[in-house]
Amino acid sequence: MNKINKNKKLLLERLLEIQNKNLFIRESDINMLAREFQKSPAEIYDTVSFYANFNLEKPSKKIIKLCQSPTCHSKKNEKLLNFVSDLLNIKIGESNDYISLETCQCIGMCDKGPIMTINNNIYTSITEEKIKYILKIEGLI
Ligand code: FES
Repeated sequence: MNKINKNKKLLLERLLEIQNKNLFIRESDINMLAREFQKSPAEIYDTVSFYANFNLEKPSKKIIKLCQSPTCHSKKNEKLLNFVSDLLNIKIGESNDYISLETCQCIGMCDKGPIMTINNNIYTSITEEKIKYILKIEGLI
């Protein structure tokens, strides 16, 4: 691997590391990486904006709710709630800048339970496997 490709690979690794930690790339991160890689902030910005997976804006908060009304509850939704809590490392009823994990009452889709919602998206017949997939497409893991 030549030196240019190696530097680009290192830059992408640093960008991923920052995004995984903070969920988006701040202007201060771009300036820091410009100093670190001896490039102009515009060059770092070009790299960040070229790849669709990098976020330059703070993602909107995701409010995750799992139904705890009797029908969903009988379908082991409490176990699934704990599973989500462990996966996201956030306690039930807790909130941070990006995630809120809550319980909710029946939303009228009992026949399709267990139910989980993330903002306006409704997910039905959730399982642990399905939760992993959903959290991945919602950009939470
Ligand atoms: S009990 Fe969960 S949607 Fe009705």
